[in-house]
Amino acid sequence: MSFIGKNISIAAELLQKGEVVAIPTETVYGLAANALRATAVAKVFQFKNRPNFDPLIIHLPSFDKIGPYVLDIPDVIKKLADAFCPGPLTLLLKKNDLIPDLVTSGSPYVAVRIPAHPVTRALLEMLDFPLAAPSANPFGYISPTTAQHVADQLGNVLPYILDGGPCTIGVESTIAGLNDNGELEILRKGGLPLEEIRRIAGHITVKDNSTSNPKAPGMLESHYAPRVPLLIVDIDQEIAKYNPETTGIMSYTKIQPGVPHKHQVILSLSGDYKEAARNLFAGMRYLDNCNIDIILAEVLPEHDLGVAINDRLRRASAKNKS
Ligand code: TXA
Ligand code: MG
Repeated sequence: MSFIGKNISIAAELLQKGEVVAIPTETVYGLAANALRATAVAKVFQFKNRPNFDPLIIHLPSFDKIGPYVLDIPDVIKKLADAFCPGPLTLLLKKNDLIPDLVTSGSPYVAVRIPAHPVTRALLEMLDFPLAAPSANPFGYISPTTAQHVADQLGNVLPYILDGGPCTIGVESTIAGLNDNGELEILRKGGLPLEEIRRIAGHITVKDNSTSNPKAPGMLESHYAPRVPLLIVDIDQEIAKYNPETTGIMSYTKIQPGVPHKHQVILSLSGDYKEAARNLFAGMRYLDNCNIDIILAEVLPEHDLGVAINDRLRRASAKNKS
């Protein structure tokens, strides 16, 4: 049984001993271990049931602590770090030998993030190593945005869950790196909107992640998926085809008449992207535990955090495609 608590020193001691601890961040909760110790990192893969080809992000208290772990820092990456770190942005940099190959799944690049959550920043300040931390969910399931979400699924294997309250952003970080042509490329749409990155970096390319090719690490098409099938549809048009008693609704702003309210998640009644992102994963978990056969979801406008939310919805629905 794991213990949920707010004691940063307990978390630090366990991490120093090579144990795995769940930590809060502003995006989602992470499953953390000493990134420099391959045996500790191996436990993270094991607890999550995560394939070794899917690399982990390392977390540091500030970007200026990155020096010992990377070979160089391209100008545009530095500019992005100055603008958005700490925050929901992960940057790819060429790693050196201090970072075990297990962390990066053999890639010469390591993903680095400076989380903005005060509890985890304080924890990172106490440690003399970075924390490798994927989202604290079993592989393929919905990412956790509260300590209780972590306990619900990994409570029996973790010694400690550091509780920092509900995540304020609610979707994973945006991942950016340079492609083979030296251009800035977005590898995962996330908590930092693309518009913000364009403002600093100008033109960017956005990688098409609709692939089930495991060679593209962590970009598997089916991800973040509830057990109950989730379909993306025009809810108003399609609802008549379903039994309202056993159908769940996940909509952006609109309540669906005729469907029990307890089976409906409205991401933001006022149409606020930030609120919608905060509610997304908790809403998916809630519906997944209702007694329903199917979840009908609708996409948001492709702006701001709507882009990241839609990406998660599409992946959640991907396992239902034949
Ligand atoms: O917001 C977040 O990024 C959260 C919190 C805990 O920081 N972490 C997170 O980690 O979402 P995870 O493991 O669920 O997703 C990390 C993804 C991998 O699946 C992979 O796509 C990408 O980051 N990644 C990590 N290292 C990489 C590398 N060296 N090259 C390419 N992609 C990498
Ligand atoms: Mg994840």
